[in-house]
Amino acid sequence: MEINCTEKELFLLKKVANAAGVVAMETYLIGGFVRDKIIGRETKDADIVCVGNGIELAKEVAKHFNPIPQVDFFKNFGTAHIRIAEDFDIEFVGARKESYQFDSRNPEVEPGTIADDQNRRDFTINALAISLNKKDYGKLVDPFNGVKDIADKIIRIPLEPAQTFSDDPLRMMRAIRFATQLNFIIEEKTWQGIKDSADRIKIISQERITDELNKIIASPKPSTGFDLLYKSGLLRIIFPAMVDLAGAEYKDGHGHKDNFYHTLQVLDNLSENTKDLWLRWSAVLHDIAKPASKKFEEGHGWTFHGHEAMGGRMVPKIFTKLKLPQNEKMRFVRKMVELHLRPISLTKENITDSAIRRLLFDAGEDFDSLMMLCNADITSKNKQKVKRFLENFELVRQRCKEVEEKDHVRNWEPPVTGEIIMETFGLSPSKQVGIIKDALKDAILDGIIPNTYEAAHDFMLKKGMGMGLEPKNS
Ligand code: CTP
Repeated sequence: MEINCTEKELFLLKKVANAAGVVAMETYLIGGFVRDKIIGRETKDADIVCVGNGIELAKEVAKHFNPIPQVDFFKNFGTAHIRIAEDFDIEFVGARKESYQFDSRNPEVEPGTIADDQNRRDFTINALAISLNKKDYGKLVDPFNGVKDIADKIIRIPLEPAQTFSDDPLRMMRAIRFATQLNFIIEEKTWQGIKDSADRIKIISQERITDELNKIIASPKPSTGFDLLYKSGLLRIIFPAMVDLAGAEYKDGHGHKDNFYHTLQVLDNLSENTKDLWLRWSAVLHDIAKPASKKFEEGHGWTFHGHEAMGGRMVPKIFTKLKLPQNEKMRFVRKMVELHLRPISLTKENITDSAIRRLLFDAGEDFDSLMMLCNADITSKNKQKVKRFLENFELVRQRCKEVEEKDHVRNWEPPVTGEIIMETFGLSPSKQVGIIKDALKDAILDGIIPNTYEAAHDFMLKKGMGMGLEPKNS
């Protein structure tokens, strides 16, 4: 089977083959690299499996290059890694036979043949190997018809589902992740196995689960993965707050939309325009507090008042639970969730310069991201409503552009700072400083005073003295 390697890859693989000849080890290229080459996807590291000691082979391979690359190895796992030509990573491992204990993720490993090693691989498309041996160099070894499954776009486990998923429950997430990334279908028996074993996901560490979740979110159409996670029962275990969004309730003839599928639609819409993982997370979480804020108002219908602020407060908790970063990425997602209604809530009557300045100021450098999220959030089935929203949204966008060109409010800092306020009134950091600072900011954003140092200083003096404060140098 021809696989489409670059000249450089062929050259490097030939060197691995030569080294394997020297140590007389049966050696194969295996796993994701082979799969992705056949699919025509970009490849990452190359995995090499040999019948024998992987570290020994890696050390021999290194000798075939000048300068000799560093060999990093983990003796306990029998794995080694080298990086050649600056960007080509090769992982080495000895062929293994594995068996698992029921209550543990740690398999018992013993050396095995290449066939044993292929048997322990998760999916037919990941068990493909290419010989690097002299006798049949370049021959594809495909024990489970993985090439056919690639052509038919199918994710299938080679062995029995109960064993595969019970041994390594992360494979349930991986099946869904590959189906989402590659736009493949999960074969029926495999799918049934996932549904039957979903509960086993509890023994997998949060980091590994979240890693797969992030890969699903980073896929071209992430809704596919979330829908599969939901229908398999996995989502209920790994991310229950999202499942709480599902379903629509009816009362007195009033219904509301299914916020789970709405969220997925927003996520897909957004993903057409951005690869930014954290903006995509904002779409996942933008309505997360709708179940908690839901109320039925007689004669009016369902309301979700305050779900944006409540959702914002949920973001740090969800990030902690999912072991996502507790840094500016989290603060960005929180900000997006908190502000996601703002642009669209501006109707023709209240698009004042002041409202626009406030929006620009609050969104700051994330204004474009916010507008992208809001645009994606317009998902009604009612075409007239969508048209009206989009027109209004365009109007807001246009006004924001005009006001920003005139007033430069994004990334703006009031001309009189907290330090100046403290210095003027001889204050230490305190509530009073905050009150003056906020009043000053509001006065400028509302257009009550111009955005100049003199006007701001004057305002600060009046406001402070109105609060009973004395300027130090008066
Ligand atoms: N593998 C497995 N079961 C797992 C993880 C990995 O059988 N739980 C095997 C598969 O053969 C896989 C190979 O190890 O192809 C390499 O795993 P990994 O690097 O995690 O995945 P890739 O398939 O290379 O894909 P990606 O890099 O997109 O994660």
